Amino acid sequence: MSAPSKVIPEDAFNREETVQNYIQSKPRAMMDIPVRLIIERLRQIGKVHQRSGCLLDVGCGSGKSTRLLAKNFQHTIGVDPSAAMISYAIASDNDMAGVEFKVANAEKLPIEDSSVDVITAMFVVHYTDLAKFIPECKRVLKPGGIALFYWHQISKILSAEDDALPVIDGPVKMMIRQLLEKAREMSHPSFHTYELHQTQFDAISWEKKSREIKELEFALDSQWNLGSWSRFYHNLPVYQKVRESGVNPLSELVQAVKNTWSMQDRDSDDIKIRVVYTTVMILLE
Ligand SMILES: C[S@@+](CC[C@H](N)C(=O)[O-])C[C@H]1O[C@@H](n2cnc3c(N)ncnc32)[C@H](O)[C@@H]1O
Repeated sequence: MSAPSKVIPEDAFNREETVQNYIQSKPRAMMDIPVRLIIERLRQIGKVHQRSGCLLDVGCGSGKSTRLLAKNFQHTIGVDPSAAMISYAIASDNDMAGVEFKVANAEKLPIEDSSVDVITAMFVVHYTDLAKFIPECKRVLKPGGIALFYWHQISKILSAEDDALPVIDGPVKMMIRQLLEKAREMSHPSFHTYELHQTQFDAISWEKKSREIKELEFALDSQWNLGSWSRFYHNLPVYQKVRESGVNPLSELVQAVKNTWSMQDRDSDDIKIRVVYTTVMILLE
């Protein structure tokens, strides 16, 4: 058997079909909640004032979260190396004034020196070459500006039907570990996300850096069930690469949930779940 091909995330996120699947299956709460957390945190430290300043969203993908963030700024620029993602972002731009999208990567930002108040990067930092991205952040931020990197990882599945049913955490951690171990083998060497970005955090040279980690139950909508939740992960470009290499940790996890809750005969789409995520924010002030 030949060795699995390297996942270049830019390429993985550039296949039309993958992009469509990813965008369509991403639950609304997966965008709304991170954006709310980010804006709340920026407000607390006085970095957001009603519709003023310039935001740069690095690795903006489809631009959906970018537009939600943009409501708080006068001018917003979203950049992503995937031309397919940027085309989608531009096409669905809803005529929002002051928002623009460009094809570019974190390591070479097409942005003027000292021109940005806030940089956000959501679910992106592990794909970047920090030795190049961090100096770029320093270059484009105005004095007093801030960069905020956000990421979250599932930590627990609970039943939304019966509080007495056991919490599923061991099989979740096993699935995440298996998945990310595989992804790391195949992709960027800094793909250490299961360590909650410790590796990336340590690699960042910045005078005032901090990291905040907390567990949060995502208030997911009524369509959220074991089936739709696992479909979202199935549609992640990295997961598709993992599948190509012959393993399917998600299906093992779904089976573990059913076994633990004695629901072997139920359809995954009929099993209502609640999901707890561990959220990580890295702040560079
Ligand atoms: C998981 S998606 C996140 C998209 C968006 N931030 C969101 O929250 O929905 C990761 C994104 O990072 C982009 N990406 C990959 N390598 C990158 C790099 N070197 N610089 C900037 N973005 C990158 C991918 O093209 C993809 O759109």
